[in-house]
Amino acid sequence: MKGNKTILITGGAGFIGSHVVRYFVEKYPNYSILNLDKLTYAGNKENIQDITAPNYRFIQGDICDADFLSTLFAEETIEAVIHLAAESHVDRSIENPLEFVHTNVIGTVNLLNAAKKQWNHDMTDKLFYHVSTDEVYGSLAEGEFFLETTSYDPQSPYSASKASSDHFVRAYHNTYKLPIVLSNCSNNYGPNQFPEKLIPVCIQNIVDNKALPIYGQGVNVRDWLFVFDHVTAIDKVFHEGKIGETYNIGGFNEWKNIDLVKTLCKIMDKKLDREEGSSEKLITYVTDRAGHDMRYAIDSTKISQELNWKPSVQFEEGLEKTVDWYLANSTWLDNIKTGNYRK
Ligand code: NAD
Ligand code: DAU
Repeated sequence: MKGNKTILITGGAGFIGSHVVRYFVEKYPNYSILNLDKLTYAGNKENIQDITAPNYRFIQGDICDADFLSTLFAEETIEAVIHLAAESHVDRSIENPLEFVHTNVIGTVNLLNAAKKQWNHDMTDKLFYHVSTDEVYGSLAEGEFFLETTSYDPQSPYSASKASSDHFVRAYHNTYKLPIVLSNCSNNYGPNQFPEKLIPVCIQNIVDNKALPIYGQGVNVRDWLFVFDHVTAIDKVFHEGKIGETYNIGGFNEWKNIDLVKTLCKIMDKKLDREEGSSEKLITYVTDRAGHDMRYAIDSTKISQELNWKPSVQFEEGLEKTVDWYLANSTWLDNIKTGNYRK
């Protein structure tokens, strides 16, 4: 991908998407960035309110609306898509799987159709980049790692919907020669993550002196990556990734949930000037998530060797930066709690 391009980024008012949009707008002033987001409960215009550059435009719209997408592609000369829009929370997928089928599967196929229709006459220098998750690979035993060649084995309705969308993206490449690339990333953390995910839930509850809900025994393992490192990986894959290929993204940074939360508690005690050990007392073991995957761990050797990407932020440093951001942006959290962020 090079030259002056119009790039459609979907889900750009969400957690990861907002960082991707800002990075691309600032780093590539010759690109026109269209940020398409429905502004669901997880979409937040406050995440992007500082982005005002002339090469940027926000469009509120739904990837489930095929006619809207068709018109959008006909009116704008979109040459590349970075697709992040999705329902992203596993617990919600357990409550309402169909919503995940609609957005993650049908929404993605709608987007593939719109791109295919518009690019059909000339696929040169076009790209459909699908941003996906390591959860499609299922759960790992000790000592194993997810490789790009690992068979898909999704266990939750969320990961089943993401796996399905990944398969559709590859099917469009195989069947219609749509130029695609995929990446599957581990757990992200950092500023602007919606306070339903583990780290922001715990930060917020420590501030409010509320229980820290640890599912099951807290022994499940996740592989954490600072969101800015995911963004630089997306930049690499977008610009240098080989068409048709998949890249796993992760920082070789596995943590048992309970160890992570205890580390966070120590940071919070210091930041809030509270007695050492006071946040840890809030830890409360609660009923486990249904079908809770035990362990995820990404082997990111391919992206590091082929695209020369590596993460730059150490976990404790990233966690401290994240805590600092949430403490400095209490209004952002308050607006979510009161629903004002959606007005
Ligand atoms: P998020 O929930 O914070 O943001 C999702 C965004 O998509 C929101 O702004 C929402 O309004 C938008 N959206 C949802 N449905 C839409 C629709 N029908 N039309 C248009 N926009 C819609 O999610 P996130 O954590 O930023 O994740 C972004 C992407 O990255 C997702 O595809 C997710 O599967 C993937 N991913 C996330 C992680 C992670 O740890 N958060 C890790 C790997 C991959
Ligand atoms: O691995 C990538 C995935 O990471 C992304 O694809 C998903 O979009 C993203 O939500 C995330 O999924 P997880 O389910 O791993 O993230 P979550 O923050 O919900 O949970 C992290 C771990 O903490 C998990 O083992 C469940 C546990 N947990 C979570 C919450 C919200 C708790 O123990 N208590 C909680 O309150």
